[in-house]
Amino acid sequence: MGPGPSSANPSVLRAMSLPVLGYLDPAYFKVLDEVILMLKEVFKTEQRAFAVAGAGSAGMEAGLQSILERGDKVIICSYGFFCERQVNMCQRLGAEVVELKSEWGKAFNPEQLADALKQHPDTKLVVSIHAETSAGTLHPVKEMSEITHRAGALFMTDVVTSLGGCDVDFDRWDLDFAYSGSQKCLAAPPGISPVALSERALEYIRKRKTLPSSWYLDLTLIADYWGPERKHHHTNPVNMVYGLREALALTLNEGLETRWLRHERVAAALRAGLSALGLQSPVDPAVRLNQLTVVTLPTGVNDIALRTQLFEQYGIEVGRGLGQFAGKVIRIGLMGESCVPANVFNLLNALERLLPTHGYEVAKGAGAAAASAQLAEQPAPIY
Ligand SMILES: Cc1ncc(COP(=O)(O)O)c(C=O)c1O
Repeated sequence: MGPGPSSANPSVLRAMSLPVLGYLDPAYFKVLDEVILMLKEVFKTEQRAFAVAGAGSAGMEAGLQSILERGDKVIICSYGFFCERQVNMCQRLGAEVVELKSEWGKAFNPEQLADALKQHPDTKLVVSIHAETSAGTLHPVKEMSEITHRAGALFMTDVVTSLGGCDVDFDRWDLDFAYSGSQKCLAAPPGISPVALSERALEYIRKRKTLPSSWYLDLTLIADYWGPERKHHHTNPVNMVYGLREALALTLNEGLETRWLRHERVAAALRAGLSALGLQSPVDPAVRLNQLTVVTLPTGVNDIALRTQLFEQYGIEVGRGLGQFAGKVIRIGLMGESCVPANVFNLLNALERLLPTHGYEVAKGAGAAAASAQLAEQPAPIY
C-alpha cells in the first residue's frame, strides 16, 4: 500500500518467466503488436503507443529531451516533487525553464498557465503531471492542453500514477506525449514505461535542428523499433514486455471503467475510515487522488517509527512524505492489485492499534465501521 511499486499480479510475474525471445524475432514482433494494441486502448489513442525501457523517469526524460533543444523555452506547471524532477531534467538539457509554482495539495489554476503563455509566446512545450503522487492531487490536464495548443506549443503530461487507475484520454485531451510506469495501477513490477506520442509531436521531433542529446531515449528511434519499420535499436527488455502484456490484458479484462470505479470506491472507504479515526489530509477534497491518499501525521506520531511498526507487525507497507511533506505525512497507495477493501480494513485496524502507542488515542472500531458503512452505500466492484 505504498505509493508504488504496488503489488504485482501473480500471473504477471509468471508471464515474466516465459522463455526469452530475440527482440528482432518475428515471434516476438507478435508480442509487441499485442502490447501496442492494448496500450492504445488503455491510453485511448489511435496514434503511437509503445514502451520505453526503464522506470517512469525514463519516459519523462525521453519526452523532455526528445522535444526540447538547448535554449528552448519550456513552461513547467509545478505542484509536487515529481514536477521538480521535470524542472531539474529541463535545466540539465539547457532549456529555458519557466516554473509555474502552485501550492502542493491544492488545485492548479489553468488561468495561471494561460497568463504565462501570454507572457512567453515563444514557449515550445508545456509540461505537467496529471496525478501528482507526492502531493496526492489530480490536475485538469485536458484544460491545460487546450490552453497550450491555443498558444501553439506542444503539451506533455505525466500519467505514471493515473494510467489504469482513472481516466486518461490521450486523443480527446489532445495530448502530445504522455508517459507512465508499469509499477502503479497497471500492477506489474517496475522497469518499463508505457508511453503515447502524437503524430504531431513525432513529426516535430523528426524535424528538430539538432539531434536529441540521448541516443537511448530518442523517441523517434524507439518509435521506429516499435512501429512498422521494426528498425533495430537497443535490446528490448523482452521479459518486462511479457509482464506488461499480461498486466494490460488483466486491466482490459476487468474493464477500464470498472477498474476506475474500483479505485474510486475503495479510496472512498479508506477516507471514511481515516476520518473516523480523526485523521486529516492536507489535500483539497476537490482535487484529491483515489490512487494515493496523503494523511497528516498527528502531533507526536513519528513517521519512520509508525511505518516500521506497520511493516514489521502487520506486513503493511505505506509511503513516506516527499519534499515539503517529508516527516509530516504518510502516503497510502491503493493502486491496481493493492486496491481492495481487505487492505483498507487491515490498515485501519493496524492504525487503530498502533496510533495509541504514539500517544494518539482513537475510538476502537470506528475506522472499520465507517469504511464498512461507506462500502455498503457505494459498493466497490469485486476484484
Ligand atoms: C507522478 C510520478 N512521476 C514520476 C515518477 C517517477 O517514476 P520512477 O520512479 O518509475 O522513475 C513517479 C514515481 O513515483 C511518480 O509518482
